[in-house]
Amino acid sequence: MENREFQSVLRTIESKIGIQCANYKPDYLQRRIQSRMRMNKMDSYPEYNSKLISDTNEQEALRNALTINVTKFWRDREVFDLIKREVIPEIKRRKQRIRIWSAGCATGEEPYTLALMCHEAKVLYPDVQITIFASDIDREALKKAEMGIYQKKALENLSEPQIRRHFEEQDDGSYQVKQHLKDLVKFSRHDLMSGRTVTQYLDVILCRNVTIYFTEKQKDELARLFAPALSEGGYYVMGKTEYMGRDVEHLYDPFNSIQKIYRKKSA
Ligand SMILES: C[S@@+](CC[C@H](N)C(=O)[O-])C[C@H]1O[C@@H](n2cnc3c(N)ncnc32)[C@H](O)[C@@H]1O
Repeated sequence: MENREFQSVLRTIESKIGIQCANYKPDYLQRRIQSRMRMNKMDSYPEYNSKLISDTNEQEALRNALTINVTKFWRDREVFDLIKREVIPEIKRRKQRIRIWSAGCATGEEPYTLALMCHEAKVLYPDVQITIFASDIDREALKKAEMGIYQKKALENLSEPQIRRHFEEQDDGSYQVKQHLKDLVKFSRHDLMSGRTVTQYLDVILCRNVTIYFTEKQKDELARLFAPALSEGGYYVMGKTEYMGRDVEHLYDPFNSIQKIYRKKSA
């Protein structure tokens, strides 16, 4: 009975919030939904489902709870160091246009870290053109990302000269990303479960700390989706705690197993 009631909530999530529940781990969905139920002082799924059907604020709150946007500048710094030290120079030796996709970019810290890093690298290589595509399913997170306004605390991983060079202090003490970095990033709303990528001919795809909520099947689907969207020799960067599934590992070669960087296998 309870399971049928739970399934009704999932159907409401699909129709009202537009998230495909079948691709997320059931435990994960249950925990998030129950946490919203507790906030609403409810303990039955039918009661919560009625609220969810009619209350757009609750739809918004549950959507936020399901798409946790935790992120930060230079999250897992070693990965960015490796991208800067080995990946970008390797691509640069082969081509002058570098296309990167930050898939599941949340509030923008990841693509702006890449932009900042590439901007600094571009100073070394003035003839390279870099485009960073950044996407997320969550419209609110994307809005914040596009604004590019952060509290000083969020910039703790940046040096003072980097902050001065790449951010504009606002009257209220927050900091906005400067236009030269914004110009490198193209934001768009995109559902990683749609079976499509935002673009093709990519040199690097970062999809970090997104698939932790996905089923094994859906994780493998993503690895299958990304391979043809990468150019020859392109890189797929996963989150530190994520791993390549057995059924899809033939599509990639490990580039750095500790930092979870893989390379598309040559045809
Ligand atoms: C924890 S954040 C990761 C942010 C960044 N990649 C990082 O590692 O810091 C996970 C992001 O994945 C997004 N997400 C979850 N499901 C998604 C989907 N089906 N399509 C696109 N983005 C999704 C969430 O909205 C959230 O912003």
